[in-house]
Amino acid sequence: ADYTVGLIVGSVSEPSLNRRFAEALVRLAPGAGLTIRDIPIAELPFYGAQYDADFPAVGREFKDAIESVDGLLIVTPEYNRSIPGVLKNAIDWASRPSGQSSLTGKPTGVTGASRGLISSALAQNHLKTILVDQGAPLVGAPEVYIRITDDFFTDDGAIANEGTREFLTAFLGRLHELIRRWQ
Ligand code: FNR
Repeated sequence: ADYTVGLIVGSVSEPSLNRRFAEALVRLAPGAGLTIRDIPIAELPFYGAQYDADFPAVGREFKDAIESVDGLLIVTPEYNRSIPGVLKNAIDWASRPSGQSSLTGKPTGVTGASRGLISSALAQNHLKTILVDQGAPLVGAPEVYIRITDDFFTDDGAIANEGTREFLTAFLGRLHELIRRWQ
């Protein structure tokens, strides 16, 4: 069966390297039986606990978008050795009101791209710790730390290396498998 996966890109930079990487991943998704659709985070205000009593439509729509998909794919940059504040803010919205986290039981795959030598490894590990606390089942292996080099993308935005495409399709396949097991 095909599953629908919500894509959260943890960057609002323009252009964003991780947005570009995510768009290349979206092209591989049919090969893993997934349909990926974007869940934007840029319009969310900074979360504050006052919103729990009177939850705004923008927050409700974000939670509804997560709750309407079978799984999540989060593609995060690493900012100062952790996840960007904009992504943490989005997770805080998804986690509230207390006891009503939209992330609980939501199968999730985490990846991210960087030009740095250890890619986005530390950010991804922080993110996984946060998601474990939310009760989101995670794709454990393979871990996908993508180091972007000048020849990583083709001119039309695909992933140039065939082995990398196969590896990433297999990663998406593990997300498919995780969703199937949780159905
Ligand atoms: C970075 N960058 C970065 N890279 C990394 O590998 N580890 C890090 O800790 C950081 N820290 C960091 C902080 C801040 C504030 C910025 C703006 C950048 C570089 C980062 O990987 C690069 O800018 C990517 O292009 C970020 O992804 P997006 O936002 O373009 O998708």
